Amino acid sequence: MEKVLSGIRPTGYLHLGNYFGAVKNFLALQDNHECFFFVANLHALTTHPDPLSLSSSVKSVLAEYLACGLDPEKSTIYIQSDVPEISELYTLLNSLAYKGELEKCTSFKEKIRKHEENINAGLLTYPVLMAADILIHRAHKVPVGKDQEQHLEMTRNFAVRFNHRYGVDFFPEPQAFNFSQQLVKVPGLDGSGKMGKSEAEGNALFLRESNESIINKIKKAKTAPSPTEPNSVKPIEIENLFMLMGLVSSKETIQYFEDKYNDCSIQYGPLKMQLAEDIVKFALPIKEKIVDLEKNTDLLGKIAKLGAEKARESANETIKGVKNLMGLKSIWL
Ligand code: ADP
Ligand code: TRP
Repeated sequence: MEKVLSGIRPTGYLHLGNYFGAVKNFLALQDNHECFFFVANLHALTTHPDPLSLSSSVKSVLAEYLACGLDPEKSTIYIQSDVPEISELYTLLNSLAYKGELEKCTSFKEKIRKHEENINAGLLTYPVLMAADILIHRAHKVPVGKDQEQHLEMTRNFAVRFNHRYGVDFFPEPQAFNFSQQLVKVPGLDGSGKMGKSEAEGNALFLRESNESIINKIKKAKTAPSPTEPNSVKPIEIENLFMLMGLVSSKETIQYFEDKYNDCSIQYGPLKMQLAEDIVKFALPIKEKIVDLEKNTDLLGKIAKLGAEKARESANETIKGVKNLMGLKSIWL
């Protein structure tokens, strides 16, 4: 059976971008694949989070995973730092990654541009840790949003390099995966770029957001002047609103507003109200489950413990194989 793996960093609450770019695919895969889903807390360290808020975010992402429908009976669900074999593989892969390719990585360049004061080694080797996450279970498919494509390409390079160096076919070449063929990029509400946890206030809609707040944020979302020519190309702000509708609204609703846009009779107020209503409807059942699960710390603990045990079993097999191949098998123990 093909193996699937993915993770999300516990750097804040999950938003619609995380849901439609990543989690929705996790759900669709867990019935007919061997799945590993984890909370990537080691990846969050690069921004030096406060320890208390990091551990509380780990809990909230775990609750959000489960509330979205990840099922511990079907998938292995764990916290990254509970599986020390990942850090071990990271160390072993580090010498296969070159400074030049790490420095060329878009996410590294973006992060050092934004945070000149904190250019640490963890940021530079982020793609190596991500490769270790994936290769530790020798996964084939990695459901992620479009922004992660380059990291996947780097993972494939490290896997191929390892196989070549040790003359084996040990690691498969993992592929980024999205059901809709094209990787999804959910836009933010501020008119440009993607929805993200750490973008400007008002850019993201969180799964646990209150109905009032969803409505307010959508009301404030950027728009553009109404069309004056029939069938004109939509400005990016309007395209973004339609893109969000595409995720949560019915085909009929979308068609209704498309027709109005195309015959220039569109009013953005009613469009936004409909969009807000459909997002509220979509998020409500998930939000209710998040609230319940977060109260149930015992259950979260049991799930994390079971997940770590299963993940370590699979990780150990890989580490044993890698160490044998690299000449690190212990002679004395
Ligand atoms: P954020 O960018 O909000 O910090 P992460 O980097 O932790 O989120 O991303 C977790 C997962 O969600 C990744 O698979 C990423 O590709 C996906 N993702 C995040 N934002 C979006 C978005 N706006 N559209 C599509 N996928 C996204
Ligand atoms: N880098 C991913 C992100 O920022 C999170 C992540 C870490 C990940 N390790 C992974 C995703 C392994 C898929 C597989 O979104």
